[in-house]
Amino acid sequence: MDKMAVIGAGQMGAGIAQVSAQAGIHVFLSDVSVELAEKGKAGIAKQLARAVEKGKLEANDADAALARIEPVGDYAPMAEAGLIIEAATEREDIKRTIFENVGKVLASDAILASNTSSIPITRMAAATTDASRFVGVHFFNPVPVMGLIELIRGLATSDATVDFVRAYAERIGKRVVQANDAPGFIVNRILLPMLNEACFALGEGVATIEDIDAAVQLGLNHPMGPLTLADFIGLDTCLSITQVLHSSTGDPKFRPAPLLVKYVEAGWLGRKVKRGFYDYSGETPVPTR
Ligand code: 3HC
Repeated sequence: MDKMAVIGAGQMGAGIAQVSAQAGIHVFLSDVSVELAEKGKAGIAKQLARAVEKGKLEANDADAALARIEPVGDYAPMAEAGLIIEAATEREDIKRTIFENVGKVLASDAILASNTSSIPITRMAAATTDASRFVGVHFFNPVPVMGLIELIRGLATSDATVDFVRAYAERIGKRVVQANDAPGFIVNRILLPMLNEACFALGEGVATIEDIDAAVQLGLNHPMGPLTLADFIGLDTCLSITQVLHSSTGDPKFRPAPLLVKYVEAGWLGRKVKRGFYDYSGETPVPTR
């Protein structure tokens, strides 16, 4: 494969475009407007420049990777893509509209993949032109750093599609784990109850924000404490995945913590709005409680 496309130029989409371009693949990058796709590319340029500054990447390689990323304003160029990865907002109606539109240009042997973190693959596959060529590929944030891809097979996903995605993952240097099309797949099924529990602990006054984070970071050797990680992922995303786990299983163990719900209702969504469990408006994050 020498050409692919990424739909959605936010944090995840830009990360996917970056690692793919660094692996030598030409990437059509799109978003709701070409301006947003350009903005995504500008963010990638900064990441690559930082890697060059740190001596982790040759300047020539960074320039070549950046030149392989082509922001596009419509789906027509994606007719040349062997793989199209949708990394748009985590809303099923938005994703379905994308699949419908991209289906009009998708090459007859191209693979369509979704980076969804919680929407069932089999259900979304039903909205595509060929469910056998549809698959879930779940990346982790920050994409250039995290070494994993969860590969999720829908009921109709073919072996050839799975093999194709495995080869792509190997090319971009990620380890693949295969998960059934079950709520939260593997990582979020395990991670979100932990983050939700940290919110329960805070809400019940077990400890302060700083101490909950320090306890997990130092006591379990995690790179970030759970409240810092929840802010990093986005509290709205954490709540929405927890709600999917809760509603699709009916299991009360996944009940969202009231404090998490309150923070989302307040619009305190984490790092992206500079306010979650920490205040990010200054140089260093400050706990808010
Ligand atoms: N993009 C690219 N690279 C980044 C980055 C970003 N946004 N943020 C950090 N990095 C790189 C740095 O450049 C640095 O690279 P180097 O070692 O080559 O110099 C390396 O990561 C370490 O960064 P820092 O020294 O600045 O900071 P830390 O050591 O604190 O690491 C972290 C930052 C990598 C984010 C680390 O804290 C971490 O791994 N945190 C946990 C992240 C995690 O759990 N992600 C999964 C979330 S769940 C998910 O995504 C699924 C979804 O469905 C919810």
